[in-house]
Amino acid sequence: MFESLTQAPADKIFELVAKFRADTRPEKLDLGIGVYKDQAGNTPVMRAVRRAEQMILDAQTTKTYVGVAGNPGFRDAVRDLVFGGAVANERVASVQAPGGTGALWVLMKLVDRANSGGRVLISDPTWPNHEPMLEGVGLKVDTYPYFDPATRSVRFDALMAKLDGLGPNDTVLLHGCCHNPTGANLTEAQWDQVASSLRRTGALPLIDLAYQGFGDGLDADSYGVRKVAATCDELLVSFSASKNFGLYRERAGVSFAVARDKASAAIVGSQMGNIIRAAWSQSPDHGVEIVRLILTDPDLRADWEAELTEMRETMLDNRKRLAAALRKASNSDEYDFVAEHRGMFSLIGISPEEVTALREKDAVYLIGDSRMNVAGLPRDDMDALAESIIAVTRA
Ligand code: LMR
Repeated sequence: MFESLTQAPADKIFELVAKFRADTRPEKLDLGIGVYKDQAGNTPVMRAVRRAEQMILDAQTTKTYVGVAGNPGFRDAVRDLVFGGAVANERVASVQAPGGTGALWVLMKLVDRANSGGRVLISDPTWPNHEPMLEGVGLKVDTYPYFDPATRSVRFDALMAKLDGLGPNDTVLLHGCCHNPTGANLTEAQWDQVASSLRRTGALPLIDLAYQGFGDGLDADSYGVRKVAATCDELLVSFSASKNFGLYRERAGVSFAVARDKASAAIVGSQMGNIIRAAWSQSPDHGVEIVRLILTDPDLRADWEAELTEMRETMLDNRKRLAAALRKASNSDEYDFVAEHRGMFSLIGISPEEVTALREKDAVYLIGDSRMNVAGLPRDDMDALAESIIAVTRA
């Protein structure tokens, strides 16, 4: 039977990870995959995570199943973190899912159940996995204008023109904060307009919230989610704890569906549970129990928030340092946007050929569209990196 198969297309992010691992040059620099790194290039286990993990090991008495919808204390604590009371709890249905991707997948399946084969609009550009995931569940993919490579900012008028033309059968996949890959984000005033448009047209918002706390802060980064939740009757949100808790391999995520009332939320919740039962049946508990403990224990929570703040401030400082180094190396303000963007990434705007040259010549790894992970930047060696970047653009 297998002779009918051909090689599956490679994911550009994981392809780059493999290339980086195979590179034997000691000076190699990974600015590719979205994983936080400290100055030594390590992705640390966060302090509060280590403590919570030990508490689980000491206290856990069973490994029996938790239930199809997953750990309820975790889901409720994350609901409060994400929505901050912007919507009545009884309108929010939730299920646990393996990571942000699992959470997104459940929501996409839900959209397909509610509106079979319907159209979902994704931002141009977006995270490379959005489109294959949507196609995989049988939904139609369209795009909305988002990023202007000339100004390195959001094409807001074009975005609004597209959103205003949507209808109740459309779903719009938005990035809650820290847009991946561009680093260009909606302002609060722009979120207000997006929420009003969604309310007017009845299009269903699906918000991917994978980087809460990596942009401007935990509350600031959920402004969009909260505004849309307070404005619209229905909303879907996928949450990932991979980045803000550093729990990449534990696969801790939640699918949230905000419905118009309690009865409708119960129906939507039953559908999400049904999707999970027929897919992986039960979700893993270890990572989510860590998150539950951290969010509900004041001492652990304070420690986690402090470390998350340190990580966010490091990324911001890296942005400022690189922008200054690029200003010096290019003798222009062309790259000042790096300091204005927020989150883990910026599209720095060099061509795919220049990205390849940078990798081959100087062992600096960016995704082919020039997405750079700012967490991995060499804090004390920005000038050399900036000179390498400018050199390939002038070669
Ligand atoms: C990324 O965008 O690099 C991360 O979200 C990792 C992934 O799964 O693609």
